[in-house]
Amino acid sequence: MRNMRFHVMTLFPDMVSQGLASSITGRALEKEIFSLNVVNIRDYSRDKHRHVDDYPYGGGAGMVMQPDPVYDCYADIVKSCGKKPRVIYMTPQGTVFSQKIAQELALEEELVFLCGHYEGIDDRVLEEIVTDYLSIGDYVLTGGELPAMVMIDSISRLIPGVLNNKESAEYESFQDGLLEYPQYTRPEVYHGMRVPEVLLSGHHANIEKWRHEQSLKRTFLRRPDLLDRACLSPSDKKYLEGLKNP
Ligand code: ADE
Repeated sequence: MRNMRFHVMTLFPDMVSQGLASSITGRALEKEIFSLNVVNIRDYSRDKHRHVDDYPYGGGAGMVMQPDPVYDCYADIVKSCGKKPRVIYMTPQGTVFSQKIAQELALEEELVFLCGHYEGIDDRVLEEIVTDYLSIGDYVLTGGELPAMVMIDSISRLIPGVLNNKESAEYESFQDGLLEYPQYTRPEVYHGMRVPEVLLSGHHANIEKWRHEQSLKRTFLRRPDLLDRACLSPSDKKYLEGLKNP
């Protein structure tokens, strides 16, 4: 089994290591199904006060991360890689991350995530080392650590062995590009609301049909934009027509 390696270049290494040490990613790290190399960019400062930022040329608010510490940190990581890895810079100016991008990145053996802070990183080093500019959505965060953790979480769960059988079965149902159907557990009546009768029937074909229709309905009501790209059968299309023209 291949052991994927994620490298994270950051000024807040604890945030990343601790964030990924829990739950499913933590379990997979313990089992060494993938590995995480978190590197503190500050360790590459060329300054006795360990500064890694300076004022922006041309003036303006905030500080900019200097290119040298970022490059030296990158160069050290590359030395430990077999071939030149993809380097992903977390930025709201990037392409918006998606399940499709996660699937593509999960095929790599090594990935480097570069987390910026302050007003960003000197553009020259970005031009030099970054292969992919990715965003996690149209909002601004204080740094790239949370986006890197989001991406590592979603990429790592696609690596064989990270999810157990039950967890991966749950994922299958999102593969067709539709939202999940609603789930219920005990009690059968909660605050006067009953669990849908079909789920208590034990009739598997009816349950499958009901769940699939619920997925279609949810996607239609909550994320109709997804339907353009979803895999729909002729009977799915008919069901959706019925929702549009009741
Ligand atoms: N850094 C700051 N905001 C971000 C976002 N939305 N996505 C990725 N990186 C970011």
